[in-house]
Parts: sequence; structure tokens; C-alpha cells
Amino acid sequence: MSEQASASPVHIRLDGEVLVVTIDNPPVNALRQAVRAGLQEAVEQLEQDAASRAMLIVGQGKAFIAGADIREFGKPPMAPFLPEVLNRMEAGGKLVVAAIHGPALGGGLEVAMATHYRLALPGAKLGLPEVNLGLLPGAGGTQRSPRLMGALPAAELMLSGKHLSAKAALAAGLVDKLVEGDDPVAAGLAYVRELLASGTQPRRTCDLEVADKAAALAALDQLAQDTAKKTRGLFSPAKIIECVKAAVQMPFAEGVKRERELFLECLNSPQRAGLVHAFFAERETAKIPEARAAAPRHFAKLAIIGGGTMGAGITVAALDAGLSVVMIERDAESIARGRKNVEKVYDGLIAKGRMTAEAKAATMARYQPSTSYDDIKDVDLVIEAVFEDIEVKKAVFKELDRVCKSGAVLATNTSYLDIDAIAAVTSRPQDVIGLHFFSPANIMKLLEIVVPAKVAPDVVVTAFELAKRMKKVPVRAGVCDGFIGNRILSVYREAANYMLEDGASPYEIDAAVREFGYPMGPFQVSDLAGGDIGWATRKRKAATRDPRARYVEIADRIAERGWYGQKTGRGWYLYPEGARTGQQDPEVLAIVDAERTKKGITPRAFTHEEIMRRYMAAMVNECAKVLEEGIALRPLDIDVTFLFGYGFPRWRGGPMQWADMQGLPKVLADIEAFAKEDALFWQPAPLLKKLVAEGRNFASLNQRG
Ligand code: 3HC
Ligand code: NAI
Repeated sequence: MSEQASASPVHIRLDGEVLVVTIDNPPVNALRQAVRAGLQEAVEQLEQDAASRAMLIVGQGKAFIAGADIREFGKPPMAPFLPEVLNRMEAGGKLVVAAIHGPALGGGLEVAMATHYRLALPGAKLGLPEVNLGLLPGAGGTQRSPRLMGALPAAELMLSGKHLSAKAALAAGLVDKLVEGDDPVAAGLAYVRELLASGTQPRRTCDLEVADKAAALAALDQLAQDTAKKTRGLFSPAKIIECVKAAVQMPFAEGVKRERELFLECLNSPQRAGLVHAFFAERETAKIPEARAAAPRHFAKLAIIGGGTMGAGITVAALDAGLSVVMIERDAESIARGRKNVEKVYDGLIAKGRMTAEAKAATMARYQPSTSYDDIKDVDLVIEAVFEDIEVKKAVFKELDRVCKSGAVLATNTSYLDIDAIAAVTSRPQDVIGLHFFSPANIMKLLEIVVPAKVAPDVVVTAFELAKRMKKVPVRAGVCDGFIGNRILSVYREAANYMLEDGASPYEIDAAVREFGYPMGPFQVSDLAGGDIGWATRKRKAATRDPRARYVEIADRIAERGWYGQKTGRGWYLYPEGARTGQQDPEVLAIVDAERTKKGITPRAFTHEEIMRRYMAAMVNECAKVLEEGIALRPLDIDVTFLFGYGFPRWRGGPMQWADMQGLPKVLADIEAFAKEDALFWQPAPLLKKLVAEGRNFASLNQRG
């Protein structure tokens, strides 16, 4: 037995006649250059070493191999290149086997598919998720997977980015054998020896034929049409299908060439940059200064105050995370409604076959409805989700202060209100924090963790731990009106109102925003959320509004008529008979016109391009102010907020990444040009001016955190 090259992330040793190759590149064995070099060395050793008859590839730690090293994308490519290493490995005359016990994703699965036989252990997760990064499998994966699984299932796997379990991978033909256990080396060696004993020869995936070619091509054409509709604006899905067609129509070597060309197109596309930014940003937001100094407090039992839209959604999120919940409501009728709101979610899952009645009963056993604060004396963490009214909230927090045990975390789900003021009514402001969930709270991933002045670091860390337990994406925010997301939203929403009054119709604005990549435009969102909510906020803010600020009354005219959107059958759009897709409403256009006339505005035309320039300039400018005030820690926190809470197209990476890709001088020039119309609204953020003057971008500020 010999051990080699300890500095290399690939350990090669001979076990009897088997060369055991262990990929050891924590945390997930990504295929950085040194790993590719190590793998190449192993292949060469297998070719040259007379003592070895076969090679076994395994991963050290949790993963088999999680794919290419995503940090290397966008940097100059470094040899050896994975496709060549794999082709050489596959072509060799000695058996090569992979034993997969954890994630084998992207390039990791491509390594496995280029071996001759694949063994999976129960923890295996197999997938080709490159599409999530704006890419396609670029190391033969688009050519080998159709040969193993069939063209359509392979294309569907690549388009979905989904991970298959060991069992599903066996059924799909991606692996040859499944064994129990968690030791890939022992299981792999046993399998290799079994194959050697039976005289099994290398079976090269590249030599297999794609099954049923004519039917496969027809199915792929249909898939291409459906995909174009579903993945509007995305670049790589169509290229993936093109590659799979090549696998059906071309010999392997030519298919691989085609794959390489299309892979490079994807690699060089701005979408890849946006999606890779999103991948890392999403994982960075949990890295906060408090984590260095404090450990989370223990929590298992929660109280949720209020069983309305948010209270019920948060309750479901908590129950799904395995926590216990006492829900408090005002009276018997309200708590019965609160309970119903929770059960409705589970009944919906049962109706769809995604939950059993037994599982619901087991989950609901951790739920306790109550109208008495005495029932929450022993809870570890409270989340208040009562009406958005500071006096109501202060009264609730006084009550919480009275009954809750010492050390309990007291959180509010307020959307806009001053959490410092709420904390101040208690005797324990160090325990009070904001947990701003998004609706529906059991589904939306974003959780803004709002940090008031006096909160203790371990409470902040506890909130991040809660987010992790609930599988949310947490973003640390400071206290201000609307925190990160709603504060910025209110500004670009206002820019949309200005364009509306100046001549763009709500339908044109929504269409432009959808073309940019959002699933919905702002007027559609308002109809979905309920126009009454925005109206209430505007009324609340009326007293503090700057009298010099331009105010567009059109939304008030709509709301005054009781046209709140989908729930009332009309809003900015018409929803006849409960329709969910709205129709344009000539009466709305007439109201808009009348308001313009009242202000003496002659409407002018807006192109979609101008609409988006203004919309995005307003957004980016406010983002810069939020950063400068320390409301957001880093630009990436703002990006994640918009990706996970506001439907910002992921492939653009978020508003800060978008601005960097436009070039900040261009964005600033727009803002300065618009400021000539309205200097108050379009005041350029000092931080934006500073970055432009210094020739820097927002990404340069991410290094700070
Ligand atoms: N490259 C570089 N870093 C990676 C990585 C990769 N492929 N995959 C994960 N990481 C890093 C993460 O950034 C994170 O770093 P941090 O601790 O500094 O924040 C760390 O590894 C752990 O990752 P997670 O927090 O995501 O850990 P989980 O245990 O929750 O998940 C995982 C593990 C399922 C492997 C998940 O990380 C994942 O899905 N990774 C991406 C897999 C992927 O997309 N592979 C395809 C890459 S593209 C490719 O292979 C191209 C090829 O076809 C040529
Ligand atoms: P909702 O009106 O649906 O529910 C509020 C519930 O609180 C009602 O069931 C009411 O009976 C109960 N309640 C009122 N006073 C109470 C008291 N003193 N004790 C116990 N229960 C009391 O309101 P929604 O939409 O759930 O909003 C709740 C909070 O969440 C608000 O602060 C809101 O700003 C915030 N929020 C709302 C979002 C949304 O999209 N609806 C998104 C994020 C935050």
C-alpha cells in the first residue's frame, strides 16, 4: 500500500490490485485545477502501473464531488481540462468504478458517468444542476447522460437541476447498483472485486447508443417549445436541449465538440455571471459580525401572536421546522379562524397528495391555540404578527414583557414600524428583534432579520439559527421605515407612479417589468397583495410626507372605489368571475387620464427601455442610500433580498449586480439626467457618486463583510 502526494487534494493508493482514488477537497470536493490534475495523475498511474487492475473513485467527507469549482468560472481556464481527463479515463483498458455516497453533482456526476460502473450508497444525490448557474454540463455530461438514461429523461434532469436519490438514480439507469452502508471505500472495493472476479470488461458510456432516436427527437422538439415558454429570458435551457439533440444525432466525439462550443457560449454570458453571483450571495448573507461573538440561545417552543395571514404562515413554517407553537389570538372566534388558517395549508397538501392525514395529525400535535397569555410563560421565542398598528403592537409587547420567561426572544413581524420604539416599551430591549417574513410565510424564502439598537448579539444569532431551521434565506437589516426591501420598493414604486402620471399605462409598465424578467409587474403585484394595503400605508405616511415631494393620487382614486385587486374582482385589472389573470380595464385608463388632466399633464410616450431605465435607476439609487446608512451590511444582502423577496430575476443577480454590469457611471448619468425634472426625488446617492469617482463598483464593497 502506498500513499502519495499528501499536498494534493487527490489521494492515490493501491489496495491489493485496486487503485483507490480519494478526492479530498473540502468542503464539497469541487473539481478545482489541483483536483483535475490529481485525477489525471491517477489515470496515468492506472495506465502505467502493472500492479493495478482497476480504479475506484470515492469522495472524502460529505460529498462525492459537487461539480466544477464555481469560483473558477470567469477566470482564465487552467489545464488539465475535465473533458479530456474524463475521455482518457473512459478510454482506458482497465476497469474504473465510482462509489457515490453523497452529492455527485454537475462535473461530479460527469466524472461518475465517465467511469465504467457506478455504485450508489443511500446518501447519494445525483444531478446536473448547471442550469441553475446559467450553464450546461460541459464535461461530456450532455452526451453521456442521454446514453445512460434516454434523451428525454436526461434533458429533463438537466433542465430541472434536480437531484436524484440513489434509488431514483438506479431506476433512471444512472447507477448500476445500490448498497446499504455509509463507507464508500469498503462498498466500492467489494463491488470492484466482484466485477473483476466475474471478468467484467470496461463498459464505456460513449460507446452506448441513445435509445429510440426518432421518438427522442420528436420529444425533444416538443420539450424545446415548452421550455421556451417556461424559462422566458433564460439562455442555457435551449442550449441544453440542443446538446441532447446532438447526442441523439451525432457520434460521441462530435457531440462533445458541440457541447464545448455551447458550454463556452453559456460560460461567457452575463446570465452565468448573474447566477453565480446569486449562488454565492445566498450563502454569504448568514455571515454576520455577531456570529463571531455569540452563540444562539436554545429554542424549541415558540409563541406566535396573531393567527391572520402572516401568523398562520409563520406557524406552518415553525411546525414544519419541527418546533412547537402556541398561537395567541384576541378571542375565541379569532383563534378558531387562526387554527383554520393553519389547517387549510395542510389540507391543501393532503388534497395534492403531498401529505398524509397522519402526518398532519402528528404536526398539529405540536400546535396549541390559545387566547391566554398565561399559556406562553415557558416559550423560548415569540413572534408577534398582529395588526400593523404601533399602539396595538406596543400593547402586545407590554404583555409579553409581563409574562415571558427571562431570556425569551421577543420578535415582531412588522413591515415598517419602528422596532426601537417597540423594544422601548419593554424592560428588556436586549431581547427584542425584528423577524420580517414575507407572504406566504411558509413558502417565501426571505427573512429580513431587523436589528434594533439595543438588541443583544446572541439574539441576532438566534434569529439566524431560526432562519436556518426554517430553511429561510436570512438577511441582516437595520431599522428604518421599510427596512431593506420595502424601503427600496417604495421608491421604485413611486418612480412607476410618476411614469404612470406622465403617460405610461399600468399595462405598459407591467409589460416592461415582465420583459426585464420579473414574473409580474408592480400593478399586478398590487392587485395580488390587495390595493388596500398600500393605501393604508400611504395614509399612514401622509402626515410625514415631504410637502415638496411629488405625490401621485391615481392609486388612491382606484382604492377609494373599493377596487383592491383580485380579492374584489377588480383593481388595476379586471378579474371577471374570480379569474387570476387580469384583463386591461378601460375605466382605469379613464381615471388615469382624468388625473393627468387635473394636474395639467400632457401624456407622453414611454418605450419599455425608458420605463426600465427609470425603474432601475430609482431602485439602485435607493439601494446605495440603504448601504450608506448601514441598513444593509453589503451590496450582496440587498441582492439576496430582491431575489428571494421581490421576484427580481435571478439570472440578473440582483439590483447591485445589475448596476455593476451596466456600469455605475451609466446609472449615475441617468439619475442626474432625471434629476433635472425632479431634483428632490432623483437626488443621487452620495455613495454612488463616490464609487463612480473612484472607478469602483458595488462588488468592491462586498469584500468588506
Ligand atoms: N464550487 C465551489 N464551492 C462550492 C461548490 C462548488 N461547486 N459547491 C459548494 N461550494 C461551497 C459553498 O459556497 C459553501 O462555501 P462557504 O462554506 O464558504 O459558504 C460550501 O461549499 C458549502 O456549500 P453549502 O453551504 O451549499 O452546503 P450544503 O451542504 O448545504 O450543500 C451542495 C452542498 C448540495 C453540494 C451544494 O453546495 C450545491 O448544490 N453546490 C453546487 C453544486 C453545483 O451546482 N455543481 C455544478 C457546478 S457547475 C459544473 O460542474 C460544470 C461542469 O459541468 C463542467
Ligand atoms: P391580518 O390582519 O391577516 O392578521 C392579524 C391578526 O392579528 C388577526 O387575526 C387579528 O385577530 C390578530 N390580532 C390583532 N390584535 C391582536 C392582539 N392584541 N392579540 C392577538 N392577536 C391579535 O394581518 P397580516 O397580514 O397577517 O399582518 C400581520 C403583521 O405582519 C403586520 O404587522 C404586517 O405588517 C406584517 N406583515 C404582513 C405581510 C403581508 O403580506 N400580509 C408581509 C410581512 C409582514
